[in-house]
Amino acid sequence: MSNALDVSWLIQKDRIHSDVYLDADIFEREIDILFSRHWISIGHEGEIPGHGDYRQRLIGRQPVIFLRDDSGTVRVLMNRCTHRGNAVCQNERGNSKGFTCSYHGWRFRLNGELATVPFPDRYGGDFDKSALHLRQPAQVASHRGFVFATLNPDEVPLTEWLGPRVLAELDDIADLSPLGELLVNAGVHRLKFRANWKLMIENAIDGYHAGSVHRSYNESIAARTGVNLASLATSSAPARIVDLGNGHCAWDSRALLAAGAKSLPTMQSKGDAARAYEAALIERHGKDRAAHLLSKSGSHLYIFPNFSYVGSHFRLFQPVSASETRVQLFPILLKGAPPDINARRLRMHEGFYGPAGIGGQSDDIEIFERNQLGLAARTDPWSIISRGIHLETRHDDGTVSGQITDELSNRTLWKRWRDLMTQPSEESAPCAR
Ligand code: FES
Ligand code: FE
Repeated sequence: MSNALDVSWLIQKDRIHSDVYLDADIFEREIDILFSRHWISIGHEGEIPGHGDYRQRLIGRQPVIFLRDDSGTVRVLMNRCTHRGNAVCQNERGNSKGFTCSYHGWRFRLNGELATVPFPDRYGGDFDKSALHLRQPAQVASHRGFVFATLNPDEVPLTEWLGPRVLAELDDIADLSPLGELLVNAGVHRLKFRANWKLMIENAIDGYHAGSVHRSYNESIAARTGVNLASLATSSAPARIVDLGNGHCAWDSRALLAAGAKSLPTMQSKGDAARAYEAALIERHGKDRAAHLLSKSGSHLYIFPNFSYVGSHFRLFQPVSASETRVQLFPILLKGAPPDINARRLRMHEGFYGPAGIGGQSDDIEIFERNQLGLAARTDPWSIISRGIHLETRHDDGTVSGQITDELSNRTLWKRWRDLMTQPSEESAPCAR
């Protein structure tokens, strides 16, 4: 990748060029810059509740182990033996007391320390085990259990990368639990599709597609429940898209619920579980904040570049190539909530996004692959993202919002993409330790 690659002209305020989805050099630059030099989401602490629990993850293309050590500390370790580079962790997930390299048997503790090496007598006196711990990313930080990492020691602090509005959104998600703690122990759905990863992040906060792509889902819900989901994403629907800064954005569903929409599990239920849940939230947070949290329980959040939260789950995007993407979807349950509330969250997630769901895979994933196919026709290589550009609202607190069917989220993330992707290229950032 050379500095000569100019991507700035590919992103204009109202249109983007097909190369950003198709070009292999641009993809490599994304891995080098977006996924290696800046913060990316690694997962949530709720995935690894027990000492020794671990998950394999990637930072760009670099394998890491996301784990909780035997003191309870959540860590991210590079999955590379400090002897000759073998991956020390083979399983995608599991629980372990440590990691023994299968090549020559070096054994590492959960905190990354090199514990033992076979036949140490053949090393000289300057052999220093304490200098051969598993390496770790330059920075690891979390907020309300959401863990992020970067390979870049000079990257800004996570709080600055996220900004106060995203931090507040994460607080709102975590505080949906009456105990302020999320459970991420209901399993994971894995997707892969033959299309560029950014086609899915564009879709993370996109109300415009819901009426057409999800028409069959909307019709089935209407037939079963009488709820008209299609009305939630018309050009007159009150829900807003909010630019949260730094490429992050949200779908704020509060106005929908204020207008009487009944699309969410906690809203649908008027039974004992819903009353108990609401009472528990009021007891913890007070009446006003509890009402605020409940009104946002259907909102979406996108954190640049690889995280989105969609009401009942969060997902991590993993680019494989310019035309292949993998995604993991993690249902979120609420610690301390009545079992019926959590069961409803899980059923809602499965119904739309699960392996047999009729929304996420059969609808959206199919569209991403069709989109990738169409983008290859390049007599006119531009995609238009101008919808609602003249109707954006700038608020007193500095935020900008648009109507739910507008393309504000596209403009937000593509501006951030251009700003970061036009940084000068450098050698890969080092790791700490
Ligand atoms: Fe790990 Fe040799 S490569 S012990
Ligand atoms: Fe969709």
